[in-house]
Amino acid sequence: MNRVLQHILDAVTDGAADYSYPDQDNRMEAQVIPQARRDEERRLWESMLPARIAGVALDAGCGRGAFTGLLADRADAVLAVDADQTRVAVARAQHQDRAAFRVRSLMDPVFSSEKLRGAFACVSCIQVLGHVPLNGAAIILSAFHHLLQPDGLLILAVPFVNHFSEEHRLVRTSEAQPFGHPITPQRYDALALTPEAGVLPVRHFTAASLTALVEKAGFSAERMEPCNWYSERRADMMVQAHRRPT
Ligand SMILES: C[S@@+](CC[C@H](N)C(=O)[O-])C[C@H]1O[C@@H](n2cnc3c(N)ncnc32)[C@H](O)[C@@H]1O
Repeated sequence: MNRVLQHILDAVTDGAADYSYPDQDNRMEAQVIPQARRDEERRLWESMLPARIAGVALDAGCGRGAFTGLLADRADAVLAVDADQTRVAVARAQHQDRAAFRVRSLMDPVFSSEKLRGAFACVSCIQVLGHVPLNGAAIILSAFHHLLQPDGLLILAVPFVNHFSEEHRLVRTSEAQPFGHPITPQRYDALALTPEAGVLPVRHFTAASLTALVEKAGFSAERMEPCNWYSERRADMMVQAHRRPT
């Protein structure tokens, strides 16, 4: 096994299995993100990554492994992490000899521990930050800054609204549509902190809010590009950023 990956795995054991992603049977995701959208997202993602990543890559919030194999095609080794053990089990069954897997929240202090400083060459975090508590996005981005080597690459994708202010929405997974109903930031936060089956909280970032968050965490955002336009105002936004030295 890759020596750096072994060191990472020694530091990150499986955590408590106390989080369940609200789209438990993947029904909403399967219907609103059909293959054509996934293909568009994948093409954009591929255009933001180098063909070779020298070092270990982190698939942060790997879900059912949609990007795990793609990362493994490029990196020396991959650690795929998700807070939901059922989704990690699906990803592991699909890619088991190509990546290592851990059940852990990205907000866990282990990802800011000294042992893991600079351990990764690349972090890919696709469609996770729009479902975590409001302060969680900043906590996770600052952990990524800690985890990445000095010139490390960060790729992010989040829900995006082309507006002046962010929106918080609730999607009932049985309704199979991507942007649901408006809710207050407080309700979003409560649902993200204590997930309910079938009720997915979604934070839609603006270009300004996303840039500010990424820059504040110590990254330089070089490229931001939308994909998957769901309406004339709503899309997914992908960001390519590099870690700035501290
Ligand atoms: C919309 S899915 C995206 C999954 C995958 N990245 C993809 O593109 O298919 C969001 C994922 O984030 C995970 N997640 C949510 N909060 C998390 C946290 N605090 N730490 C780790 N994973 C988290 C969920 O369990 C879920 O698998």
